[in-house]
Amino acid sequence: MSLGHPDDVEAFRRLVLERSGLILSAEKDYLLKSRLEPIARSEGIADVAAMLRQVRLAPTARLAQRCIDGMATHESFFFRDNTPFDQLRETILPALWRARGASKSLRIWSAACSSGQEPYSLAMMLQEERARFGDWRIDILATDFSQPILERARTGLYSEFEVRRGLSEQRQARFLVREGEAFRIAPEVRAMVQFRHHNLLDGMATLGRFDLIFCRNVLIYFDPATKAKTLEAIAGCLNPDASLILGSAETVVGLAGAFEPTPGLRGVFRVRAPAAHAGLRIAS
Ligand SMILES: C[S@@+](CC[C@H](N)C(=O)[O-])C[C@H]1O[C@@H](n2cnc3c(N)ncnc32)[C@H](O)[C@@H]1O
Repeated sequence: MSLGHPDDVEAFRRLVLERSGLILSAEKDYLLKSRLEPIARSEGIADVAAMLRQVRLAPTARLAQRCIDGMATHESFFFRDNTPFDQLRETILPALWRARGASKSLRIWSAACSSGQEPYSLAMMLQEERARFGDWRIDILATDFSQPILERARTGLYSEFEVRRGLSEQRQARFLVREGEAFRIAPEVRAMVQFRHHNLLDGMATLGRFDLIFCRNVLIYFDPATKAKTLEAIAGCLNPDASLILGSAETVVGLAGAFEPTPGLRGVFRVRAPAAHAGLRIAS
């Protein structure tokens, strides 16, 4: 199977790594082909080889960005993995209610939110906890580096298959509005989420500080150096008593000295106290 001139293919692999952090090893050539072919077809380009040549010649053009986006995995579903959401409801949120009782405000970031199921799940859970925070100010920022997937997320429109994947009948009845064959997230849930374009490899200072960050199922695609750099940047966005929640196959161990696991909670990490952090060697 030829994807094109080896130099063009190699240049594309490097471009994807530089712009998104995603590693495309040679064993993933089948993925390159299956994801790039439909893009070539819809762009009216003869084949993947011709498209990769164009991308190499114009790496900052719209086509290059479309091809980079096309290599990302956007798989997501409502209340994915359950455990993080159970831990949130039972332990993390009650602690935050106590700690933020004076300011009555919470900022949450769903980093690499894909088609929106994660931030909408958070918003639904917070709606369910309304009795506790009725008069609080709660902001959920949801970001992704793919513009097309963000546009989809903003619509809040899901197929029956997507809705059934993770939403109980009770939640479907409470938080969805049927629109023909599809379902739209209810306005009060959508109003809680603000979607914004952001690449995790770029600066995070403009995003502000958060009480809770969900960054799940994206670091697995990065190489160790990029993971470590991203985690160190995320540490700078967390309030001192805030939590970072990673995906079930992800950890900070051996990557980011800024974090320590939260005892008793799976996949939940806290920023270490500065003195403890200063003595640790950070992997690069
Ligand atoms: C598998 S989805 C995870 C979605 C959600 N967090 C979840 O766990 O269900 C990974 C998402 O990461 C996004 N992504 C990949 N590289 C990124 C980067 N460098 N910056 C921001 N988002 C990125 C992709 O566009 C994709 O939507």
